Amino acid sequence: MRLNKILGIALAVAAVTTFSSASLAKDIVRISHTQIETHPDHIGFVAFKDYVEKKLGDKYEVQIFPNSQLGANEKVLELVKQGAVQFLSVSTANIEAFNKKYAVFSVPFLFTSEKAFEAFVTKPEVLAKLSSDAKKDGFEALGAFTAGTRNFYSKTPIRSVKDLEGKKFRVQAGPTNVAMMTAFGAAATPMSFGEVYSALQQGVIDGAENNELALTDQKHGEVCKYFSYDGHQMCPDLLVGSEVFLSKLSPEDRKVFQEAAVEAQTVEFAAWHKSVDAAKEKAKAMGVEFINVDANEFREKVLPLHQELLKANPAMKEMYDEASAFNANFK
Ligand code: GCU
Repeated sequence: MRLNKILGIALAVAAVTTFSSASLAKDIVRISHTQIETHPDHIGFVAFKDYVEKKLGDKYEVQIFPNSQLGANEKVLELVKQGAVQFLSVSTANIEAFNKKYAVFSVPFLFTSEKAFEAFVTKPEVLAKLSSDAKKDGFEALGAFTAGTRNFYSKTPIRSVKDLEGKKFRVQAGPTNVAMMTAFGAAATPMSFGEVYSALQQGVIDGAENNELALTDQKHGEVCKYFSYDGHQMCPDLLVGSEVFLSKLSPEDRKVFQEAAVEAQTVEFAAWHKSVDAAKEKAKAMGVEFINVDANEFREKVLPLHQELLKANPAMKEMYDEASAFNANFK
């Protein structure tokens, strides 16, 4: 009888503890990205975390995993689909394997100015259009981060388009990038961002293409001493959210996450514009020469590819037409 009583109390205490710890427990929101902690994407996500925790800190704890800690973006996008990771910043190039319409941003020289690119990718209607297959994709784009302009850099100088011939360049994943490099007369080696430094060092590739921050943050400038401003692509990093997670939120909570994404976007853009010149100076100190090539020569070389790409991938036609027309606002 006595023992029963003790057991009863113990069970009751256990029940209460379980109940109260469950009601106190917060939902963990995991964010993944591939950049270092001073990178604009990370700074944007810190603003996202602060916004969510300020409004809903009693319910959610936001954890940011930088530096590909959770894996390469191509893999983490799969985890986002499954709902194991809730948010990710990912280049549109990496989404091409999941939904072909995102490939539009890999079409070389799609935008005629960085201003047009920035205004286009942050248009809520553009993000909504990209996300219209969210149920099928398992994720949606709540915001866009800029990643500047992509240019070639290499161990030997690229002064004209001819200098690309026969060289091996790392590109982001996706058939559009491979087609682009072939049109440039070079060979494409697709691989994950985190693998590029050692591939350059070991001589697996002759060069890569990216923005200025890759030279410093990823140390590519230690190996590649020539960076040529041809400006062949502008690919945003989209702030994608898991559909498994988003679809379970109340409308009020969902609104907070959406507002947090817009806040992150604003903060990331500002941080980006501050970072580029600093990265350039740092790269110069590493011995990198910045070369101003005739970008028109590069553009003309791959312009015929546009029609071929559209034929092979009609899913991107609508967005291609919109982006092309949008350029006229920034002449
Ligand atoms: C940029 C971009 C990343 C992308 C990387 C790459 O750094 O911001 O999202 O993964 O380029 O070339 O893979």
